[in-house]
Amino acid sequence: MQPVLTLLATLLLLPPVLLGQPQVQQLEQLQSMAKELIGEYEQQLLWVSAEYARAIEEQENQALEMIQTQEIRNPKTITSLYETPAFNLLLLELEGAQALTTELKSKAGASRAADLLHQLQEQVTNASLSLKLLADSDQRNFRALQQEVDVLQGQLNECEREKEQEQASRHPGPPLPPGSCAHRGLQKVGRPLVLQLNWRGISHKAGAWGRDSAPSPDSPLYWVAPLRTDGRYFDYYRLHKSYDDLVMLKNYEQWKMGYGDGSGNTVYKNFMYFNYYGTNDIAKVDLSSNTLVLQRPLPGATYNNRFSYASVPWKDLDFAGDEKGLWVLYATEESKGNLVVSRLNASTLEVEETWRTSQYKPALSGAFMACGVLYALRSLSTRQEEIFYAFDTTNGQERHLSILLDKMLETLHGINYSPSDHRLYVYNDGYLMYYDLTFLTLKHTVSRPAAKRPSGDRASPRLVKSKPSGS
Ligand SMILES: *[C@@H]1O[C@H](CO)[C@@H](O)[C@H](O)[C@H]1NC(C)=O
Ligand SMILES: *[C@@H]1O[C@H](CO)[C@@H](O)[C@H](O)[C@H]1NC(C)=O
Repeated sequence: MQPVLTLLATLLLLPPVLLGQPQVQQLEQLQSMAKELIGEYEQQLLWVSAEYARAIEEQENQALEMIQTQEIRNPKTITSLYETPAFNLLLLELEGAQALTTELKSKAGASRAADLLHQLQEQVTNASLSLKLLADSDQRNFRALQQEVDVLQGQLNECEREKEQEQASRHPGPPLPPGSCAHRGLQKVGRPLVLQLNWRGISHKAGAWGRDSAPSPDSPLYWVAPLRTDGRYFDYYRLHKSYDDLVMLKNYEQWKMGYGDGSGNTVYKNFMYFNYYGTNDIAKVDLSSNTLVLQRPLPGATYNNRFSYASVPWKDLDFAGDEKGLWVLYATEESKGNLVVSRLNASTLEVEETWRTSQYKPALSGAFMACGVLYALRSLSTRQEEIFYAFDTTNGQERHLSILLDKMLETLHGINYSPSDHRLYVYNDGYLMYYDLTFLTLKHTVSRPAAKRPSGDRASPRLVKSKPSGS
């Protein structure tokens, strides 16, 4: 639904009567984009109905499996549909879309755009009707529907992203290859894209997820690690070998291991790194066999919730993987609670080098590494975060910046960067979501001159305000 909403929002921004030639061109572009999206959407609806029966069958299998693995899951998974936040979100989203289409229609008058909007409105109305019907008739089908919507949304996102990339490639520099650090640091963060609720349910508000942070575009490994409901113990995790498997919640391996503390874990080159429960030990688990291969203390690191992040308890040791290696972010008594960064030797877990930052760790909401640069976040409100501080380990320099991130729910738990796709994987109060990151391209990669676009050059409404300072 998201891309459709974005599209509608874009159309909404156009003044009702535009007579200038460039604007007419823009409107025509938008209309053909809308048509394409609707075509895609209809195709997906067809596909979804074909898959529907299969999804239900799968869901029944999952229900069986659920009963067999009661110790893992909360047996009370089938609650009233109206009480699940995911359902309410979906409903809200659809209602928002309905309101938006109605408003747009009143603005559009009689034109080709009005026809398109009429089609869209009907689809949106149908979708929310069937959602309500479903809620009343059969609660158990909800998960299947949600999965379908997730897939649909994922594919629409994909379609939108391709379009964006295509448009972007017409203007600025070439896209950054996977694992490349040929850039001048973070420029902006895209909108949050919500994938799904974590597999253990909404009561598992704390946790982490991501993609193996070793740069390897060919064999993606996705991992999902919701903590127990107390927000402290890390015990179960799942691995998926493709994005589609993750979206469809299938073909996964589920493992249980010795306890970890908090949501600071990460996956780097097929090993999971985490803080061993109740200690300042780093633990390293081989993901091909779920065996603990190494455990050793991190010298000086405080633990047991001594200097965790604001609103995210038990995250004393926060692991991060990037293009330059494996890192751990933590605080010591000597640093007076300020964040320190150490690069680890991934085979021996020895500290290779340590840098001290000027930021008090409990005042931050989280941090991640990209190309050897630490980026720290703080909460601005329940709906927004700011990346406000960067520390470059290649030259020891720090700087302040302001890049805003929207969030769906209040707290960002696990925050993990993947160099393969330049995405930030965030666990947001039980929901798996991600952001696309954009980096400042190098000066010498100047784009060819853009086609002349007099006066019609509006800033995209989706541009996140960013203010790279210093550097
Ligand atoms: C919406 O539902 C009506 C009635 O079931 C149907 O005739 C119509 O084709 C549907 N529209 C779309 C766009 O799916
Ligand atoms: C890690 O340490 C081992 C043993 O000291 C050494 O052989 C290896 O080169 C180190 N790895 C890296 C990436 O520095």
